[in-house]
Amino acid sequence: MLMIDIHSHILPGLDDGPQTWEEALEMARLAAEDGIQIMVATPHLFKDRFSDVGGINNKETILAQIHQFREKLSQAQIPLEIMPGCDMHLSPRALELLEEDQVFTINDTRNYLLLELPDMSFPPGIGDVCFNLQSKGITPIITHPERHFLIQEMPDKLRNLLDLGCLAQITATSVLGGFGRAIARFSRDLLKKGYVQVAASDAHDTRGRAPKLRRAVEEIARVIGKKRAWDMVTTIPDKIIKGQPVN
Ligand SMILES: [Fe+2]
Repeated sequence: MLMIDIHSHILPGLDDGPQTWEEALEMARLAAEDGIQIMVATPHLFKDRFSDVGGINNKETILAQIHQFREKLSQAQIPLEIMPGCDMHLSPRALELLEEDQVFTINDTRNYLLLELPDMSFPPGIGDVCFNLQSKGITPIITHPERHFLIQEMPDKLRNLLDLGCLAQITATSVLGGFGRAIARFSRDLLKKGYVQVAASDAHDTRGRAPKLRRAVEEIARVIGKKRAWDMVTTIPDKIIKGQPVN
Protein backbone atom coordinates (compact mmCIF):
# COMPACT_ATOMS: atom_id res chain seq x y z
CA MET A 1 0.00 0.00 0.00
CA LEU A 2 1.33 3.42 -0.90
CA MET A 3 1.89 5.73 1.99
CA ILE A 4 1.81 9.47 2.61
CA ASP A 5 4.19 11.08 5.11
CA ILE A 6 2.92 14.47 6.29
CA HIS A 7 5.91 15.43 8.47
CA SER A 8 9.51 15.44 7.25
CA HIS A 9 12.64 17.57 7.38
CA ILE A 10 14.01 16.63 3.99
CA LEU A 11 14.83 19.96 2.31
CA PRO A 12 18.55 20.64 2.72
CA GLY A 13 20.10 23.55 4.57
CA LEU A 14 16.88 24.98 6.04
CA ASP A 15 16.95 23.47 9.52
CA ASP A 16 18.42 20.52 11.44
CA GLY A 17 17.50 18.15 8.60
CA PRO A 18 19.93 17.24 5.78
CA GLN A 19 22.53 19.82 4.80
CA THR A 20 23.22 18.69 1.23
CA TRP A 21 21.14 17.69 -1.80
CA GLU A 22 22.95 14.31 -1.83
CA GLU A 23 21.65 13.52 1.64
CA ALA A 24 18.17 14.78 0.79
CA LEU A 25 18.10 12.54 -2.28
CA GLU A 26 19.33 9.59 -0.24
CA MET A 27 16.47 10.20 2.20
CA ALA A 28 14.05 10.35 -0.72
CA ARG A 29 15.39 7.03 -2.01
CA LEU A 30 14.83 5.41 1.40
CA ALA A 31 11.30 6.81 1.57
CA ALA A 32 10.39 5.51 -1.88
CA GLU A 33 11.86 2.08 -1.08
CA ASP A 34 9.78 1.97 2.09
CA GLY A 35 6.62 2.54 0.04
CA ILE A 36 6.13 6.24 0.70
CA GLN A 37 4.63 7.83 -2.38
CA ILE A 38 4.04 11.38 -1.18
CA MET A 39 6.08 13.32 1.33
CA VAL A 40 5.15 16.69 2.74
CA ALA A 41 8.36 18.67 3.29
CA THR A 42 7.89 20.46 6.59
CA PRO A 43 10.98 22.44 7.64
CA HIS A 44 10.90 24.21 10.99
CA LEU A 45 9.42 27.69 10.55
CA PHE A 46 12.47 29.12 12.31
CA LYS A 47 15.83 27.92 11.04
CA ASP A 48 17.05 27.48 14.61
CA ARG A 49 13.65 26.12 15.68
CA PHE A 50 12.79 28.32 18.68
CA SER A 51 13.30 31.88 17.49
CA ASP A 52 13.45 33.85 14.28
CA VAL A 53 16.95 35.21 15.04
CA GLY A 54 18.59 32.75 12.62
CA GLY A 55 16.04 33.39 9.88
CA ILE A 56 12.59 32.28 8.79
CA ASN A 57 11.61 29.50 6.43
CA ASN A 58 8.74 31.38 4.88
CA LYS A 59 6.67 30.17 1.92
CA GLU A 60 9.01 31.68 -0.65
CA THR A 61 12.13 29.98 0.79
CA ILE A 62 10.44 26.60 1.04
CA LEU A 63 8.89 26.75 -2.40
CA ALA A 64 12.20 27.58 -4.07
CA GLN A 65 13.73 24.46 -2.48
CA ILE A 66 10.74 22.32 -3.42
CA HIS A 67 11.02 23.26 -7.09
CA GLN A 68 14.71 22.35 -7.10
CA PHE A 69 14.06 19.11 -5.23
CA ARG A 70 11.36 18.00 -7.65
CA GLU A 71 13.75 18.52 -10.55
CA LYS A 72 16.52 16.56 -8.84
CA LEU A 73 14.12 13.73 -7.96
CA SER A 74 13.00 13.40 -11.53
CA GLN A 75 16.61 13.46 -12.80
CA ALA A 76 17.50 10.75 -10.29
CA GLN A 77 14.32 8.83 -11.21
CA ILE A 78 13.17 8.60 -7.62
CA PRO A 79 9.39 8.09 -7.53
CA LEU A 80 8.55 10.45 -4.69
CA GLU A 81 6.14 13.35 -4.84
CA ILE A 82 7.01 16.36 -2.67
CA MET A 83 4.44 18.77 -1.29
CA PRO A 84 5.01 21.95 0.70
CA GLY A 85 4.41 22.33 4.40
CA CYS A 86 5.95 23.70 7.57
CA ASP A 87 6.59 22.55 11.14
CA MET A 88 5.40 25.45 13.27
CA HIS A 89 6.71 25.65 16.79
CA LEU A 90 4.08 27.55 18.77
CA SER A 91 5.08 31.11 19.70
CA PRO A 92 3.55 34.58 19.43
CA ARG A 93 5.93 35.39 16.53
CA ALA A 94 4.93 32.21 14.68
CA LEU A 95 1.24 33.10 15.02
CA GLU A 96 2.00 36.56 13.66
CA LEU A 97 3.73 35.09 10.62
CA LEU A 98 0.81 32.73 10.08
CA GLU A 99 -1.50 35.72 10.12
CA GLU A 100 0.72 37.38 7.49
CA ASP A 101 0.35 34.27 5.30
CA GLN A 102 4.06 33.47 5.48
CA VAL A 103 3.61 29.98 6.94
CA PHE A 104 2.86 26.94 4.80
CA THR A 105 -0.09 24.87 5.90
CA ILE A 106 0.02 21.27 4.68
CA ASN A 107 0.03 21.33 0.89
CA ASP A 108 -0.98 25.01 1.09
CA THR A 109 -4.70 24.22 1.46
CA ARG A 110 -5.01 26.38 4.61
CA ASN A 111 -6.85 23.49 6.26
CA TYR A 112 -4.20 21.68 8.32
CA LEU A 113 -1.11 22.96 10.12
CA LEU A 114 1.63 21.02 11.93
CA LEU A 115 1.81 22.57 15.39
CA GLU A 116 4.59 21.76 17.79
CA LEU A 117 3.97 22.63 21.45
CA PRO A 118 6.72 24.24 23.54
CA ASP A 119 9.01 21.47 24.84
CA MET A 120 8.77 22.18 28.54
CA SER A 121 5.38 23.77 29.00
CA PHE A 122 1.75 23.57 28.09
CA PRO A 123 0.72 27.19 27.46
CA PRO A 124 -2.53 28.09 29.25
CA GLY A 125 -3.76 29.89 26.11
CA ILE A 126 -3.30 26.87 23.86
CA GLY A 127 -7.03 26.13 23.81
CA ASP A 128 -7.74 29.66 22.57
CA VAL A 129 -5.04 29.38 19.92
CA CYS A 130 -6.56 26.15 18.64
CA PHE A 131 -10.04 27.62 18.74
CA ASN A 132 -8.91 30.69 16.78
CA LEU A 133 -7.15 28.61 14.17
CA GLN A 134 -10.20 26.41 13.76
CA SER A 135 -12.39 29.45 13.28
CA LYS A 136 -10.14 30.35 10.32
CA GLY A 137 -10.63 26.86 8.92
CA ILE A 138 -7.19 25.64 10.02
CA THR A 139 -7.06 22.40 12.01
CA PRO A 140 -3.89 22.16 14.10
CA ILE A 141 -2.16 18.78 14.02
CA ILE A 142 -0.28 18.44 17.31
CA THR A 143 3.08 16.85 16.51
CA HIS A 144 4.51 13.95 18.53
CA PRO A 145 2.42 14.35 21.74
CA GLU A 146 4.03 11.11 22.94
CA ARG A 147 7.29 13.02 23.46
CA HIS A 148 5.76 15.89 25.43
CA PHE A 149 6.51 15.39 29.11
CA LEU A 150 3.40 17.18 30.41
CA ILE A 151 1.15 15.13 28.13
CA GLN A 152 2.95 12.03 29.39
CA GLU A 153 1.99 13.08 32.93
CA MET A 154 -1.50 14.23 31.99
CA PRO A 155 -2.83 12.71 28.77
CA ASP A 156 -6.11 14.55 29.38
CA LYS A 157 -4.36 17.73 28.26
CA LEU A 158 -4.17 16.18 24.81
CA ARG A 159 -7.75 14.95 25.10
CA ASN A 160 -8.86 18.57 25.62
CA LEU A 161 -7.15 19.67 22.41
CA LEU A 162 -8.72 16.79 20.51
CA ASP A 163 -12.10 17.84 21.90
CA LEU A 164 -11.46 21.26 20.37
CA GLY A 165 -11.06 19.57 17.00
CA CYS A 166 -7.28 19.23 16.85
CA LEU A 167 -5.63 16.12 15.47
CA ALA A 168 -2.48 14.46 16.79
CA GLN A 169 0.46 12.92 14.92
CA ILE A 170 2.59 10.16 16.36
CA THR A 171 6.18 9.67 15.20
CA ALA A 172 7.24 6.33 13.69
CA THR A 173 10.51 6.18 15.64
CA SER A 174 8.67 6.64 18.95
CA VAL A 175 6.56 3.56 18.33
CA LEU A 176 9.64 1.51 17.51
CA GLY A 177 11.47 2.49 20.70
CA GLY A 178 13.90 4.95 19.10
CA PHE A 179 13.25 7.48 21.87
CA GLY A 180 13.38 4.88 24.63
CA ARG A 181 11.06 2.32 26.17
CA ALA A 182 8.94 4.75 28.19
CA ILE A 183 8.00 6.74 25.09
CA ALA A 184 7.27 3.53 23.15
CA ARG A 185 4.97 2.41 25.97
CA PHE A 186 3.24 5.78 26.16
CA SER A 187 2.83 5.72 22.37
CA ARG A 188 0.94 2.46 22.68
CA ASP A 189 -1.25 3.99 25.42
CA LEU A 190 -2.15 6.95 23.21
CA LEU A 191 -2.91 4.63 20.30
CA LYS A 192 -5.17 2.45 22.48
CA LYS A 193 -6.99 5.52 23.75
CA GLY A 194 -7.53 6.68 20.17
CA TYR A 195 -5.70 9.95 20.88
CA VAL A 196 -3.61 9.93 17.68
CA GLN A 197 -5.02 9.94 14.17
CA VAL A 198 -2.00 10.02 11.92
CA ALA A 199 1.55 8.60 11.90
CA ALA A 200 4.49 10.31 10.25
CA SER A 201 8.27 9.95 10.10
CA ASP A 202 9.38 13.45 11.20
CA ALA A 203 12.50 12.37 9.28
CA HIS A 204 15.69 14.36 9.79
CA ASP A 205 18.36 12.10 8.29
CA THR A 206 19.08 8.68 6.79
CA ARG A 207 19.76 6.86 10.06
CA GLY A 208 18.29 7.85 13.44
CA ARG A 209 15.14 9.47 12.16
CA ALA A 210 14.88 8.09 8.65
CA PRO A 211 11.91 8.64 6.33
CA LYS A 212 10.37 5.24 6.92
CA LEU A 213 6.91 4.24 8.09
CA ARG A 214 6.33 0.59 7.23
CA ARG A 215 7.84 -1.05 10.32
CA ALA A 216 6.07 1.42 12.59
CA VAL A 217 2.73 0.71 10.92
CA GLU A 218 3.24 -3.01 11.49
CA GLU A 219 3.92 -2.28 15.16
CA ILE A 220 0.89 0.03 15.40
CA ALA A 221 -1.23 -2.72 13.79
CA ARG A 222 -0.35 -4.99 16.73
CA VAL A 223 -1.87 -2.41 19.08
CA ILE A 224 -4.96 -1.16 17.23
CA GLY A 225 -5.41 -3.59 14.34
CA LYS A 226 -4.34 -3.55 10.71
CA LYS A 227 -7.09 -1.41 9.24
CA ARG A 228 -6.78 1.47 11.69
CA ALA A 229 -2.99 1.35 11.57
CA TRP A 230 -2.83 1.58 7.78
CA ASP A 231 -5.44 4.33 7.71
CA MET A 232 -2.98 6.41 9.73
CA VAL A 233 -0.49 6.49 6.85
CA THR A 234 -2.84 6.21 3.86
CA THR A 235 -6.47 7.37 3.91
CA ILE A 236 -6.19 9.91 6.73
CA PRO A 237 -3.08 11.73 5.42
CA ASP A 238 -4.68 11.60 1.96
CA LYS A 239 -7.58 13.63 3.30
CA ILE A 240 -5.18 15.97 5.09
CA ILE A 241 -3.19 16.82 1.95
CA LYS A 242 -6.45 17.38 0.07
CA GLY A 243 -7.80 19.63 2.81
CA GLN A 244 -10.79 17.36 3.45
CA PRO A 245 -12.29 16.56 6.87
CA VAL A 246 -10.88 13.35 8.33
CA ASN A 247 -13.95 12.17 10.20
FE1 LIG B 1 9.43 18.09 12.94
